[in-house]
Order: sequence, then C-alpha cells, then structure tokens
Amino acid sequence: MSEANTTDQVEDLQSKALRELKVASDTEQLEAWRVAFLGRRGELTQVLRGLGSLPAEERRAAGAAANAARVALEQGLEDREQQIKQADAAAGMAGEAIDVTLPGWPVPRGGLHPTTRIVRDICNSFASMGFSVVEGPEVEWDTYNFEKLNIPKGHPARDMWATLWVDHTDEDGDHPMLMRTHTSPMQARVMEKSDPPVRVVVPGRCYRYEATDPTHEWHFYQVEGLAVDRGITLADLKGTLYEFARRIFGAERKVRFRCDYFPFVEPGVDMSIDCFLCDGKGCRVCADTGWIEIMGAGMVHPKVLEGVGYDPNIYTGFAFGMGPERVALLKYGIEDIRLFYANDLRFLRQFA
Ligand code: PHE
Repeated sequence: MSEANTTDQVEDLQSKALRELKVASDTEQLEAWRVAFLGRRGELTQVLRGLGSLPAEERRAAGAAANAARVALEQGLEDREQQIKQADAAAGMAGEAIDVTLPGWPVPRGGLHPTTRIVRDICNSFASMGFSVVEGPEVEWDTYNFEKLNIPKGHPARDMWATLWVDHTDEDGDHPMLMRTHTSPMQARVMEKSDPPVRVVVPGRCYRYEATDPTHEWHFYQVEGLAVDRGITLADLKGTLYEFARRIFGAERKVRFRCDYFPFVEPGVDMSIDCFLCDGKGCRVCADTGWIEIMGAGMVHPKVLEGVGYDPNIYTGFAFGMGPERVALLKYGIEDIRLFYANDLRFLRQFA
C-alpha cells in the first residue's frame, strides 16, 4: 500500500464519515455512527490499528492523517450531538407554545327548562295586561282545593280531579290534606287576603292520580288567572284570553271557546287551539278532534265570591286555569307531554 494510498483512504473515510454524520438525526443514529467509525471495530479504528504494519516512511504521513481524522470525527460527533439537542429543545417548546389566535374553549352553560320558559312567557303576557304574579302551596287543604270552590264533600264533581291524598288531616279530623289538583285553590286564598279589584296569575305545579298519555301527565303545571271587579263580564274574559292567544301563538292560529262545566264558574267554558300536528284534521296528539284544549275558564261562581266575603251583587269576575305544557306543545310542536319530565337531555337541550 503506497503512502498516498493510505492517506487518501483516510481522507476518503473522513469525508464519508462526516457526510453520514450530517444525516444522523437522533441519539440512536449518532451511537450507530460512532460504533461504525470510532468503535472498537470501527472503520477508523481499523486504520489506526493497521498503521503499525506500514513501512516507516509511509506510517508518518498516514498516522498524521488518521489522527487528524479521529480528532475531526470526535469533534464532528460532539457538534452534531449539540445540534440535535438544540433542535429537540426547540421542537419541544414549539409543542408547548400557546397559539393565542385559537378560539377559546366554550364554557358549558345550562339553559331554562321548556316549562320554565313557557310559564314565564305566559305570566309576562298577563303581567303586561295588568295582572300580578303570585304563588301558593302545592300541598293543600281539601277545603281550598274543593270546598271553597263549590265542590262539597261527596259531590260527584270531585271525580273530575283524581286526587293524590296526603296521609294527614287537621285537628278535628275533618279536613284532609292533598296534593293540589289545580291552582284554583289560590282563587280563594287571594280573595280572602285582599279586597277587590283583584287581578292575578298564579303559576305552579299540580298533581293528579292519573294514567299518562301524549297530553296528560300525573304531574304538570297550571297558570291560574283571576280578575274580579265591578262590572266584569264574559266579554272581558273572551277579550283577555283572545289577546293572550294572539300574543303567544300569533294571529294566524285558530282559537275555539265551548261551554264546559266547572263547579266554581257559571257560565263555564274551555278554550282550545287548532292542533299543530294535523292542522285540525285529527290525529293522535289531539285525540282525533283537531283541537287541543289549553284551559278551562268562566265567570267566578257567586257562591265562591260569597264564600270569601265578596258581595256577588256588586262584584263579578272571571277565572281561568291553563296547562302551560299544553301551550308549549302547541307553540313548539312537541308531540308528547311526557317528554317534559323524562329528563332526556336530547329533548331539553333543544330549548336551552
Ligand atoms: N281548575 C280547573 C281545572 O284544573 C280549570 C279552571 C280554572 C276552570 C279556573 C275554570 C276556572 O280543570
């Protein structure tokens, strides 16, 4: 082997090694590179080992070249290690960096229950017609739920309200307690506490011992209304309730009044809205009638006025009791009242 040969060989080896070093991009590749060139059986190590067998005059130059190559390779390895470390650190920071231009995380927000919404809408529409909003007890005496409403004990009209009784009576044992079946007991409570004129709406929960179907629940809300003053007539009742329907449903929905019987009004009516689902043709939701009843109403019975100490010869009034869930069915096109209290978020979220 000539002197030029070994020296050239070393130089070739050095540039090959440095080329390969440039493409090593992680610690593992660096280690493989080190083993390949500088390891115990590495290419450069072999050359260094072979120096001794070279003729003296060749050994000098080749030895110098090989040592220079080793220094260059070791230095190259160190530099490359540094570069890779810095690149890793930079990449890490980039990974952790905050992009302030990204949109923020949405904050989860609750929403109002559809009943709460519709009860508020109903109360607001009456409030703007001069009614105040009051509330009353859900656990009620039989006296207020029935007797003061002209429904004495044993009267068959009690069957209109399938009642959930509470296992409790007053001291004489005469007056049982119950879960109110309607908000009408508040008619008597309000009139007992105040002198006419009276104009109130009463939102609240009611309970009935009843089988459920698309328009009936065993627990539901009502909004009671009561207006008593001198000279109030059925025309006032109709005018007020038509105006209410126009505000809630818009002018194009059809409204129907019919005669109906409730012991605490005379005359009594009910009010229905044309069915949203079948356009009045008759379907499952409206029980094939084309109409959905949303409230009972009528002129307050003279006996009820008398019972609370109002003189029926001076004062007259109208009362109504509506089902807000029914109003919501019609307004939002909901096909089953049982959805309101089934706690299915897929339903409830649509109103949030
Ligand atoms: N309280 C009656 C019901 O629940 C509705 C009603 C209220 C009727 C006021 C007339 C007057 O069926």
